[in-house]
Amino acid sequence: MTHKIAVLAGDGIGPEIVDQAVKVIDCLQRELGWQVEMEQAPVGGAGIDHAGHPLPEATLRLAKAADAVLLGAVGGPKWEALDIAIRPEKGLLGLRSELQLFANLRPALLYPQLVHASTLKPEVVSGLDLMIVRELTGDIYFGKPRGIRTLENGERQGFNTMVYAEHEIERIGRVAFESAMKRGKRVCSVDKANVLEATELWREVMTRVAKDYPQVQLSHMYVDNAAMQLVRAPKQFDVMVTGNMFGDILSDCAAMLTGSIGMLPSASLDSKGKGMYEPIHGSAPDIAGKGIANPLATILSVAMMMRYTFNDIKSAAVIEAAVQEVLVEGLRTADIYTAGTHKVGTEEMGDAVVAAMIRNIWRAETGGDASAEKRCMREGGLTNGID
Ligand code: IPM
Ligand code: MG
Repeated sequence: MTHKIAVLAGDGIGPEIVDQAVKVIDCLQRELGWQVEMEQAPVGGAGIDHAGHPLPEATLRLAKAADAVLLGAVGGPKWEALDIAIRPEKGLLGLRSELQLFANLRPALLYPQLVHASTLKPEVVSGLDLMIVRELTGDIYFGKPRGIRTLENGERQGFNTMVYAEHEIERIGRVAFESAMKRGKRVCSVDKANVLEATELWREVMTRVAKDYPQVQLSHMYVDNAAMQLVRAPKQFDVMVTGNMFGDILSDCAAMLTGSIGMLPSASLDSKGKGMYEPIHGSAPDIAGKGIANPLATILSVAMMMRYTFNDIKSAAVIEAAVQEVLVEGLRTADIYTAGTHKVGTEEMGDAVVAAMIRNIWRAETGGDASAEKRCMREGGLTNGID
């Protein structure tokens, strides 16, 4: 069966980092016989430039027809003056809502090699392994009414609506509990139930859903406290489930615990496992085109794609092990660089991950026989990583 992936690189550093992720997919195809068809299309600012819309119809069609979507990042100063309704970000939000990708998984995992890249003390973050489950198609992001209106006194007023229906809370709750069942069996639901009715209902529904998962321990936390706890003692959390807005903020905060936002992948899933995979960082226009962006979050997003959409645990593990290895080898892009490590650019990092993947795949195939492994690599025209 041929897997179809829509590749939407987007803006800023998007194309550079997506190129590296595509190399990883090519490698799976070449080395593991994984059948894949990749097709590119513009989104965000690139969509505006190519087709006058952040989510061109052809791009949406491609994304709908694909089994999975690989996305880079959207946005940049070039399009900031545009009306909010047609800004690059609308491309991303449109994909999320059109594809009904309501469940956003944002794991924050600290690689032991990066413990000193975090701004927090090593003892606070080492061993961190947290999963943020963010609701992605509801809340104040999509709630109506919304807009900017003029009051009777002539003053303008901006307004948005925070809204959650029970079924939306219930289905994201189930995703969180299912995730917790495969992990540490603890869910912390984050809300602002002391002030906002929408989240009072959130808390009530979460408590109800928890009854179906007696093995999972549910706790509740107000979002302000959750932000504080994330930087005070982040290891107390296993799975954190929250709404769209709070999840946006808390996941950036959690990202920094791991040393760099350049390390964090994400999966946005519908109810059938179709997904869009993207790094959680943005388009970083300040470093775009310089070849210094960290491609690891995007590469790790491909690993999530293998795991969640294609149920291919082996490929996911091959990618994740390769990422781990390049970090062990001391390779670092600028965002995770610390003294004594080796600074590399975007391409070099991508190539190193692919080389590590090939090494491991062949090592497995040759049963650890070093001479057979070297022969294989020479035959494949690859000498990377061997003498
Ligand atoms: C994210 C981003 C997006 C969001 C923006 C780019 C619309 O910050 O994926 O976290 O707010 O959801
Ligand atoms: Mg965000």
